[in-house]
Amino acid sequence: MQIVTAEDSASLICQAADQIEALVSANPEAVIGIATGSTPEPLYAELTARAGRGLDLSWLRITCLDEYIGLPAQHPQSYRHYIAEQILTPWGIDPAHTVLPEGDAADPHAAAAAFEDGIRRLGGVDMQILGIGPNGHIAFNEPGSALDSRTRVVELTADTRQANSRFFERLDEVPRQALTQGIGTILESRAAIMLAFGAGKAEAVAAMIDGPVDPAVPASALQRHPNATAYLDTAAAAGS
Ligand code: GLP
Repeated sequence: MQIVTAEDSASLICQAADQIEALVSANPEAVIGIATGSTPEPLYAELTARAGRGLDLSWLRITCLDEYIGLPAQHPQSYRHYIAEQILTPWGIDPAHTVLPEGDAADPHAAAAAFEDGIRRLGGVDMQILGIGPNGHIAFNEPGSALDSRTRVVELTADTRQANSRFFERLDEVPRQALTQGIGTILESRAAIMLAFGAGKAEAVAAMIDGPVDPAVPASALQRHPNATAYLDTAAAAGS
């Protein structure tokens, strides 16, 4: 894993955006895997600003990491809603060019299989954007997830539901299950960008970089990724 650190996140966002811009320039139809959460929002905004200055993002094909089970696509906290608002509309992407998991399907296991199949039919992910949960999760692969896990239905830990409750009005509104790409699925992406900012991520980041590759810290699996770059601000990198 390549590590890039800087005092503040603004220059890191620019460098990550440069990496994506280089990919888009080489392949306008590249497959980008979107991470949700608050950390990558400034990256998406930076790319939207570049689109306003002429960078054509409209031919990209879009997939994502995960989705809550039980929320309809129109729910403001569904990841499909996030992607529509932050990616598809501002970048001018046709929703037909997306592969997103159907979190409100009647059969979530079938939806997980269809999602993994959809990623395969896209030809895999050229650039996967990733965040990290304070407990070391990537996507919704919670501690204990097998390093070769595939896309599946998972139970969210109490920690993760608590951390994500800031986006909901009440803790009991946070779904208890999710669909997630597996760790094995994520490791098949051809390139990955991990973004982690702030002291709240320092412990998880240290375990991701310096710890053993261990299912107890799902993000540590990125040590085995052939082309992953972690952009860390000084606070997030403080423990490593
Ligand atoms: C959620 C997502 C993860 C994301 C994590 C961190 O749990 N499923 O993909 O990395 O949140 O989010 P944030 O960037 O808001 O800290």
